[in-house]
Amino acid sequence: MSTELQGTIDALLQEDRRYEPSAEFHAQANVKDPAVYERAGRDPEGFWAEQARNIDWITPYHTVLEWDVPWAKWFVGGQLNATANCVDRHAHGSRRDKPAIVWEGEPGDTKVLTYADLYREVNRAASALKRLGVQQGDRVALYLGMVPELAIAMLACARIGAPHTVIFGGFSAESIADRVNDCEAKLVVTADGTYRRGSKFGLKLHVDRALESCPSVDKVLVVNRTHDPAEVNMVPGRDLWWHAEVDRSGSEIVPPEPLDSEHPLYILYTSGTTGKPKGMLHTTGGYLVGTATTHQAVFDLKDDDVYWCTADIGWVTGHSYVVYGPLANGATCVMYEGTPDYPDKDRFWALVERHNISILYTAPTAIRTFMKWGAQYPAKHDLSTLRILGTVGEPINPEAWVWYREVIGRDICPVVDTWWMTETGMILITPLPGLTTLKPGSASFPFPSIEADVVDDQGTSVPLGGGGYLVIKRPWPAMARTIWGDPERYRQTYWDRFPGSYFAGDGAKRDAEGYFWLLGRVDDVLNVSGHRIGTMEVESALVSHPSVAEAAVVGINHEIKGQALAAFVTLRGSSEPGDEQVDILRNHVAEKIGPIAKPDKVFFTAELPKTRSAKIMRRLLRDIGEGRVGGDTTTLADPSVLASIKEQYEEQEG
Ligand code: WT7
Repeated sequence: MSTELQGTIDALLQEDRRYEPSAEFHAQANVKDPAVYERAGRDPEGFWAEQARNIDWITPYHTVLEWDVPWAKWFVGGQLNATANCVDRHAHGSRRDKPAIVWEGEPGDTKVLTYADLYREVNRAASALKRLGVQQGDRVALYLGMVPELAIAMLACARIGAPHTVIFGGFSAESIADRVNDCEAKLVVTADGTYRRGSKFGLKLHVDRALESCPSVDKVLVVNRTHDPAEVNMVPGRDLWWHAEVDRSGSEIVPPEPLDSEHPLYILYTSGTTGKPKGMLHTTGGYLVGTATTHQAVFDLKDDDVYWCTADIGWVTGHSYVVYGPLANGATCVMYEGTPDYPDKDRFWALVERHNISILYTAPTAIRTFMKWGAQYPAKHDLSTLRILGTVGEPINPEAWVWYREVIGRDICPVVDTWWMTETGMILITPLPGLTTLKPGSASFPFPSIEADVVDDQGTSVPLGGGGYLVIKRPWPAMARTIWGDPERYRQTYWDRFPGSYFAGDGAKRDAEGYFWLLGRVDDVLNVSGHRIGTMEVESALVSHPSVAEAAVVGINHEIKGQALAAFVTLRGSSEPGDEQVDILRNHVAEKIGPIAKPDKVFFTAELPKTRSAKIMRRLLRDIGEGRVGGDTTTLADPSVLASIKEQYEEQEG
């Protein structure tokens, strides 16, 4: 971890600002008995068995957990269907006319789907998928913007037992192809486009390019969102309109397939320390129990809440806390298509006011952006319906935490800073708002039953007050089961480093009271605006450009994004460094991966600074990227390299 961050955390630990839950909040909280921690810690399987009663099982399970490190099976022998839990049971009960999805398009169009509506649409979509030849076990790729059809398509897949893989709408054609080919998807659902910051943003054209190299795909369903259908290129025999196919289903009901508790629900790709993203596999029973339980406890969900998680469904937050957890709990979920600054910088607050949102779950990078824009934007709106605020995705600096609480939460809403990751499927370290005394910047304590620790290089627990690597010492129900097609990589990445424990890849520190303070990644994974990006992926993208001989990418601190990307590039003989070359390379990375991976800064250097054993000195590059002069240059093979880079830095930064 960077020494700067360490210093910040140390200063914070001295500061000791804290917020007790109010008596009123505590009295009405879903979880208000502090004994839950002790009880769940003593008997974790008993705790989860109790939670599993909130899920409808078609066949009861016989064993809560089978654990053969690192292979977990939860609720063994049980059969269920995720859609039956997220939709049918509400549509057939008292929540029939309750809004399930309250959607707002960026241009201002809206759609409300009650649970009864959602039931109808999911059935129609499931029927269309079946008619197009999708069978249980087949993979379906979804590449859409934030439109209700994305949630409907996920649920339709879950209904027939076809694992989905959602590909974030900002990924390039090449990234789509990599993912589709890795899981050999049979069908793709996409849209003509989506709206972003007032413009149409094309999606189908990226799918068309991707599918030039995806032999497994035989059908594409296209949602009509942004264009006149006559303008969209439809490949005969392959491409079909979503609306036409769903209409052909009429009012057909597709009974939810009884699926084994360990049946694959979805694959979601995430960046790691190599150039190849990992397809994290999540299964059905444990995932649903884990996401529903945490959603209900952490957000203190009540039946009349209006809940808005601002994450894009393309990331795990959207899977667990826009779709599966909240819908399993019968919540009303707001979904918004566009950016926070369209038509103006108050769009989020307009949404809160218009829809009477009571629970808001967003990312630190968004909060820091709102801080920068200023309190006049939230001040234009009545935010008094808000009663609980959440954050996720990266460490939140205490200043942003306090601003969120005071300016958005009227200094009364609890702020829950939730730590988890794609691999964990569900929130693992978090306050419980009716119980936990909050400290700004700390995710506080492991969720009941979760055993987290901070260990040193040898795997020895570090006493309170110290820092090290975050590990989880027991399995939990929503954990990923493997990496699709690569169980060996799963074992190596997460379970070999500290045998028997899950290695998260995050640094953490505990204070004297046992509060966890997350310190960011300890590997070559970066977190840019809450988006996870592997340095290796960006490096491979850069060296795939003919002008590049060698490249190193590091994460540097960024006021708004948390981290930004700095690329250090050695060009081949004939290529000239300069602004034009910077643009060429940034666009090339966008083509290869997607715009989210574009480096913020590009430095050209005659050689990369390496140690005598030829390892790139990333720490030094970070120091340079962040404008700090320093780093130990005595181990550099050629100290003049550093001098030239520094010189260039000073020139660029003026
Ligand atoms: C990485 C996982 C899980 C949803 C979004 C990100 C960082 C996540 C926090 C938090 C500090 C956090 C970690 C983690 N992270 N939440 N509350 N405090 N750091 O999912 O893309 O899988 O990224 O995000 O570094 O390892 P992801």
